[in-house]
Amino acid sequence: MSEARIVVVGSSNTDMVVQSRRIPAPGETILGGKFVMAAGGKGANQAVAAARLGASVTFVARVGNDVFGRDALANFEKEGIDTRFIAIDPAEPSGVALIMVDEKGENCISVAPGANSRLSPDDVRRARSAIEQADVLLVQLEIPLETVEAAAELAAGAGTRVVLNPAPAQSLPERLLRRVDVLTPNETEATHLAGIRVSGEDSWALAACVLRQQGVETVVITRGAAGAFLSGAEGESGVPTAAITPVDTTGAGDSFNAALAVALAEGRDMASAVRFANLAGACSATRLGAQPSLPTREDLDRFIASCN
Ligand code: RIB
Repeated sequence: MSEARIVVVGSSNTDMVVQSRRIPAPGETILGGKFVMAAGGKGANQAVAAARLGASVTFVARVGNDVFGRDALANFEKEGIDTRFIAIDPAEPSGVALIMVDEKGENCISVAPGANSRLSPDDVRRARSAIEQADVLLVQLEIPLETVEAAAELAAGAGTRVVLNPAPAQSLPERLLRRVDVLTPNETEATHLAGIRVSGEDSWALAACVLRQQGVETVVITRGAAGAFLSGAEGESGVPTAAITPVDTTGAGDSFNAALAVALAEGRDMASAVRFANLAGACSATRLGAQPSLPTREDLDRFIASCN
């Protein structure tokens, strides 16, 4: 098995996480529990997750010229990630996410994107050779859409597989979707993108069909404890996951996407890659925080063995 080469283009945040019994209603103050500050951001989480699973990872991102940005860079280097294409933005601070997690492990998140909002198509073009040589390009939507499009265009032109995690949800042009090999919405994002309410048997297939008609090759709808729904050239199937007691689902989607990208880059077929990704997501949901929860390959192998 050759080493998977992955380029992640995306956001880097510092997460401020408060655990509490429940998520407060608008206008309400509640007394919460434990506070954790940890590295986060969908792009950074996916880059770190892929590196921990053994891939060779290049991360294209922007951080602020501040303590959070410097800490993030040091962290990526510690994880063995290629940081040559992480720019330090002179004008905007590093991204920050405020996260609340309830006792069922569900979260709500608000992100101040800061420097992430200035990651540009030119930043991506500087990483052209890395993107062209990669097995998989992995992107999300916490950076400008034109930057996502520039990355997908470069990758598609070079035959690098494009995995797009459409989070947070937003409408996407067909010219981008046509360049996407694998789209991985959760049910909320699939609802937004397909324009139909996605929740339940027929709706997954219908939403996947709408998205595939717009040009996506394979659609994988993530459904939390219910696993994933896979729709592609080989047909449609539900792919189960492990039964766990979730502690914090923050970062579980990132763990899923990174593991999917790594498994595809390692040459697994789609159904096997989705099974592996489901288990990576479940493993991450058993721990608090985004990056602190992301398993190494050894962690994940142990978790998978304990599920059998
Ligand atoms: O997917 C989880 C991530 O979303 C958090 O780390 C937070 O930073 C937001 O980007």
